[in-house]
Parts: sequence; structure tokens; C-alpha cells
Amino acid sequence: MSPSAVTPPVPAFPFPLPDLRAALLAWFDRTGRSLPWRAGTEGARDPYRVWVAEILLQQTQVARGQIYYDRFLTAFPTVQALAAAPQDAVLKAWEGCGYYARARNLHRAAQRVAQEGFPRSYDGWLALPGVGPYTAAAVSSLALNEARAVNDGNVRRVLARLHAEAHPTPAWVQARADALLDPARPGAWNEAVMDLGATVCTPAAPRCEVCPLRPWCSAFASGTPAAYPAPKVRAAVQDVSVVAVLIGTPQQAVLERRSGALLGGLMGLPTEPLAAGENPQAALERLCARLPAHPGAFLGTLTHVMTHRRVTLHLHAAQADLPRRVVAEEALSRLDQKALLLAAQPALL
Ligand code: ADE
Repeated sequence: MSPSAVTPPVPAFPFPLPDLRAALLAWFDRTGRSLPWRAGTEGARDPYRVWVAEILLQQTQVARGQIYYDRFLTAFPTVQALAAAPQDAVLKAWEGCGYYARARNLHRAAQRVAQEGFPRSYDGWLALPGVGPYTAAAVSSLALNEARAVNDGNVRRVLARLHAEAHPTPAWVQARADALLDPARPGAWNEAVMDLGATVCTPAAPRCEVCPLRPWCSAFASGTPAAYPAPKVRAAVQDVSVVAVLIGTPQQAVLERRSGALLGGLMGLPTEPLAAGENPQAALERLCARLPAHPGAFLGTLTHVMTHRRVTLHLHAAQADLPRRVVAEEALSRLDQKALLLAAQPALL
């Protein structure tokens, strides 16, 4: 093992662990959020429901996640139902959630679980496609009562403040999270830290006056709790421009299957990227030559921001004798949904 892979020993906590744990868990028992995936017995929840929720919530906020979660579980109430579904139906139920590799991996993993049964440990969960240390810790603590600490953005912020650490590394956070975790109630502990980060120890304006950890919080004692952790230097957002064509109507149109990690498997309007500095007209002609199609009227331009990309889409009508699909029956990205809205109701965008 390389020296950098070794986690340094965690120094003794400057506070009594039993008191701190009891304070946070009492707060959680009083005020924890009632969320659809939290149904069931503490430490023994339905692993399928927990798993779907944890995958969904990785890139989706809780408020929006609840809507998608209900839709997904209505479509696939059990792991067997998910395993038996065609991939297109899974992507359709995931529509709008983004990061579609999550849905493809969930589907593949469900096929394995339907054959072999649910994993019985953290390591077993970790071996499934699309399940990383975060998801394995969440599911094994919430559904199997295994003492595994989750490490996500909320946990990082709470622990950075508790210790007044401006630059917490992932290994630093994991070591503190492991040491703090209450082994008697690991699932409740993990969700308590998540809830504290989401509702009290918030990024910009923490509500320290109601925080159960305030007596031990070094960032609170410093007088500037929001200064911890220091803001991360974000990767620059990349500007990308594409031309897209609508052949048909916003309801029935020529669609192509997207490839790539982000949107792979989804359907979308035929598109062509613009080279740096290129005129949209040149890209339109290239796209129409490929299909083949005749370029038609300009329908408008929209921009759509993804995590690391700002996409400018120039939409044109085009004519071609190509098969159309019923748009409502296909899984489309939000960018394509917006393009279709632009074509249908230009005044709305
Ligand atoms: N975010 C991710 N997992 C969550 C959970 N189990 N409860 C609330 N928010 C979450």
C-alpha cells in the first residue's frame, strides 16, 4: 500500500462522544424528516427502496427526488419488476433525473440481485454495478444495520465545521465520520448527519441557534461557522454549442439514440456539435447531409446548463422522409424536452 493510501490516525475527539451522539440522535428522533424511503423498521428497511433512493439522491435534491422516487417505484415496485423491464422503460421512468448511467447500472444490478438475492453486507453491495462506497454504506447501514458511515457533501460540511477544518480531504472526512458514527444506530446516525447538513448546518447561513452539536462545534466557537469548509475551486463550466433539427412535429419527430456516459441510451433530436468558432449554418448543413434532410426554418436558440457544461442549442426545422417516433413514449433528456418546448411554444423560453 502506498503511504498516501494510509489514513492517518484520528486524534482523540475534544468532546465526549456519548453526549454528542445522544444529542444528535435525540434531535433526529424529534425533528428528522419524514421521507418516503424512510418507511420501515430502523436498521431493517426494504433494501430495494433504500437503494433506489440513494442512487437517485446522489445528484438530485431531496424535494425533486421525492417526485422521481414515487414515479420510479410506481413503475417498478420490486427489484424483480425492475430486472424484468426493458432498458427503454427504465430510462423513461428515470427521465429528467440526469446522469442516466445511474439508471442503466441500477437496471443491470437489479438483474443480478433478482438472480442472486440482495447482498448481505457492505462488501456485497459494493460489488454491484453503480454502487460506490457512499451507496454501500447508506444501504448497509439503513437496511442491514451495519456500522458504516456515509461520506457525502452534507457530512463533509458538518464534520469540517465541528472540527473547524477548512480543507477536509475525503480521507479526513471518512476517518472522522467512521469515528463519530454511533454503532448502536448506524442508519439513524447517518441520516441524522444528512438531515443536520440539509436543514441546519446549511452552506451559507447555518442555523447554529437550533443546532444540537453547537456545544462542541469549533466553527461555531470561531464566530464564523460558514467559513468552514473553505469553498472548493470549481472546474470551469465548458461552453458547448450544437445545432439540432426538428423533423416532424414536437409530438411526432425523428429521434436518434444518444451515446456516451451522460445521456447514453436516451432518445433525442438529431444534433451536430459546432467546432470552436464555427457558424451554426455550417453545422446545420453537415447534420442535414448526414441524415439526409433538407434544412428548413430557424426555430430559435436556447441554453441549458448541466453540471460542467453550458449548452447552446440552435434549433431548425428540417424535412426528410425518415421514420418518426411518438415523443411522449420515449425517454428524452431535459435539453431535448426544452428544444421541443421551444418548437411548440417559443414564447415560453
Ligand atoms: N440524501 C441522500 N440520502 C438521503 C437520505 N436517506 N435521507 C435524506 N437525504 C438523503
